[in-house]
Amino acid sequence: MNILIINGSPRKKGLISQMLGIMQEEALSNNMTVETVNIMDLEMKPCIGCMVCRTKEKCVLPEDDTLKVLEKLRWADTIIMGAPCYWGNIPGQMKVLFDRLVYGMMRDTPRFPEPLMKGKKCILVSTCTTPWPFNIWFKQSRGAIRAMREICRYAGFKIVKEIERGGTVMKSQLTDKDRQKCIKAIDKVK
Ligand SMILES: Cc1cc2nc3c(=O)[nH]c(=O)nc-3n(C[C@H](O)[C@H](O)[C@H](O)COP(=O)(O)O)c2cc1C
Repeated sequence: MNILIINGSPRKKGLISQMLGIMQEEALSNNMTVETVNIMDLEMKPCIGCMVCRTKEKCVLPEDDTLKVLEKLRWADTIIMGAPCYWGNIPGQMKVLFDRLVYGMMRDTPRFPEPLMKGKKCILVSTCTTPWPFNIWFKQSRGAIRAMREICRYAGFKIVKEIERGGTVMKSQLTDKDRQKCIKAIDKVK
């Protein structure tokens, strides 16, 4: 079982990183193979919107780290994506990555787009400062989750678990309940 963790947080000791770390440990202790991509470490230029990749299935920009991530996405059976909420959405760097990888994740057809990553499972994680239930009602962590769902839907990933953690200023440490949720999430991909 190959797991790819995509960490969309620039804070390597932040809550997203800690939650993804717990999942990594749990996956490793279940003999899974785990690779991690930290979005902040990637060298990549933003999409220029030329749409050439939609027919050529290759990006016109010079080769960069996006290609390495695409290979890892193809290798993985399960993808775990973590993103803090920034402006009710995923962080810009994470958006840049998936903008650049559209051609590897879905194919345009005259009717509905064809998903190119079908059969892979996915776990989504998000955090935000807005406390529960306002993080859901006002689409804060829920906004980041919605953006990741969009990627999963068109790529063909099957979402097996979503974890949202609001109130990260008032409750800045992970609770036992948070930890348990992360550990249990790995059961869904066994
Ligand atoms: C640029 C920026 C934008 C943010 N936008 C929001 C927001 O729209 N709503 C919210 O509740 N929190 C927002 N936050 C707070 C983060 O979501 C929060 O600090 C989160 O817990 C960070 O997670 P991390 O520790 O895993 O990096 C924002 C933070 C930054 C840096």
